[in-house]
Amino acid sequence: MKAKKKDTISHDKYKWTSTDSQFIESFVEFGFVIVKSVFPSDFIERMYEFVSSRYCEYKEEFIKASPNYQVPYIGITKKLIRELEGSSLYSELTHTPALLEALERILGPDLSKICATGFFPVDPDDNSSPIFKSLHQEVWTGVGPDDVVSWTPLHNTRPEDTLLVVPGSHLFGMLPNRNRKLLPVEGFEIPEAIPLQIQKGDIVFFHSLLLHGTSGRGEHIRYAVQINYRNTFAPLTMQQKGYGFENLKQGPMTRIRQTLGNDYLTPLRTYGGKATHYEEY
Ligand SMILES: [Fe+2]
Repeated sequence: MKAKKKDTISHDKYKWTSTDSQFIESFVEFGFVIVKSVFPSDFIERMYEFVSSRYCEYKEEFIKASPNYQVPYIGITKKLIRELEGSSLYSELTHTPALLEALERILGPDLSKICATGFFPVDPDDNSSPIFKSLHQEVWTGVGPDDVVSWTPLHNTRPEDTLLVVPGSHLFGMLPNRNRKLLPVEGFEIPEAIPLQIQKGDIVFFHSLLLHGTSGRGEHIRYAVQINYRNTFAPLTMQQKGYGFENLKQGPMTRIRQTLGNDYLTPLRTYGGKATHYEEY
C-alpha cells in the first residue's frame, strides 16, 4: 500500500477547531478530522515525560537484568497502560473541556469512553507486528460503528512514524480481511494512504471504518494514546461489554432522568427538593 509523500499533501481541509463549521463536514466526508489545539502544550509535555521516562526505565531495567532475552515490549506497555490509566494525567486528558466540547458535536451530549486504552510506543528496537500496523479498520477489533476513535500523539508527529489514513475509506463499509490483513477487493483499488502531520496538543478523531495504519518506524520512539469515545446510549459490541465504559458527561435529558432516579419514574420521588445524590454529578 503506497503512502503519499509529505510534500504532496495539504492538511488544510482536514484540520479544524471544533467550532469551525467544516469540522463536522471533514469527519463526515473524509472519516476523520484533526482537531486543533484541544490540549495545552504543557499538558502534552507532562504526559510525554510521564510515559517516555517510565517506558525507557522499564526497558532498561529488563535489559540490565536479562541481557540475553528478548525485551517483552507488550508486557512493558501493558504495565505502563495500567499506570497511566490510574494517573491524574489520564483523568485530566479524558475530562479536558475542549475535548468534550469537540466530541459532543459528533456524538451528542451524553458521552462515555470505553475502558480500554490503546498505547503502543513505536520503538525502532521493537519488531513485533502489534506495534507496526498495516492498514486496517478499527471495527475488526470490536469497536462499534457509532464510536469515535481518538488518537493523541504526545509530540509533533514525524512522517516516518505517524498515523496513516485513507481519506473517505469509512464509506467503503467493512472491508474483507484475514489474519489482521486487508484482502484485495476484486475490481476495486484502495486509494493512497496519507501520513498525518499533527502538532502537539492536536487530536485526531476518526470513524471506526476508516482504513488507517502506521507509516513506519523512525529513529525515535513514537508515543501516542488511543481512546474510543461513544454516546452513552449507543449499542455496545460484545468486546466493549467486556471492557465496560466510563461516563464522562451527561446531557440535559439524562440529568433529569438522573434526578428522577429510576427508569420507572417513581412519582414524587424528589418532590420538595433535589435528590440527595444529585450534587455529586
Ligand atoms: Fe487501529
